[in-house]
Amino acid sequence: MLFKNRHVISMKDFSREEIDYILDIAEELEPVARGEERSRLLDGKIISLLFFEPSTRTRLSFEVAIRRLGGQVLSLGSVEASSVMKGENLADTIRVISKYADLIVLRHPLDGSARMATEFAAVPVINGGDGSVHHPTQTFLDLYTIRRESHLEGLKIAMAGDLKYGRTVHSLCYALSLYGAEMTFVSPPELRMPREIVRELRKKNIRVKETECLEEIIGDIEVLYMTRVQRERFPDPQEYEKVKNKLKITGDLLKSADPELKILHPLPRVNEISPDVDDTPHARYFEQAFYGVPIRMALLALTIGVIE
Ligand code: CP
Repeated sequence: MLFKNRHVISMKDFSREEIDYILDIAEELEPVARGEERSRLLDGKIISLLFFEPSTRTRLSFEVAIRRLGGQVLSLGSVEASSVMKGENLADTIRVISKYADLIVLRHPLDGSARMATEFAAVPVINGGDGSVHHPTQTFLDLYTIRRESHLEGLKIAMAGDLKYGRTVHSLCYALSLYGAEMTFVSPPELRMPREIVRELRKKNIRVKETECLEEIIGDIEVLYMTRVQRERFPDPQEYEKVKNKLKITGDLLKSADPELKILHPLPRVNEISPDVDDTPHARYFEQAFYGVPIRMALLALTIGVIE
């Protein structure tokens, strides 16, 4: 398998065999991610973080991954302090940063911006989330969490919340289809999974069910992947107000759950998981955020070519 100089833009660019290999490398790097072992794999490498949208986990876990592997971070900082404010376009920004860094991590609000960046980059580009389309490093860490905390093959999973605009669930359901998962989509009608994704899954003989009600399915699933209703993606704020509180996980709801149920969430959450869930053995979302570090270490090391 060849990863050196590859871009990481969409889960669709990776075969199941490649995904499994990346998860294996992340597992090997986990002691380094936890600070229990030291590594200089990225010694002398400079990685640029270009974030045109807010982020806590993606940006900081990339930073931790780079530093724990002995590399250096070149951050654009705030967009307001950059020449983007003078009207510089993304293509020129990418062309220039390619001259400074060995790899670029890009988060951008426009659908397709990461793919577009690869046309102007002389170094690998890792997509840190573009518009409502792709967030592959999140999906890799979600798969890693599921493999560590449950199992991937034939998983019974429900994805709940904003399935219309949620880039994490769009990438995740494609990736899980490679493992024959059974998927239930839970959302208000206004936020249903896009029809083309449901059609594509059914064409691959993936069992897909749709409902508006968490209570109906909570006893039949092994993983519940909850998502935030994203105010920033709604063209009409009134539409957001109508749906923002429709789905919520509470301690009471979990009384009907399988004792082994794992709850994941890409975070940030607003109020879709009540705080009384945090101390239950079901809650795995903070550990999931940590798993972003070994996964991003693996992707950096493979695409820069210091691990084959
Ligand atoms: N899950 C995720 O992408 O979080 P951030 O927006 O904080 O990076």
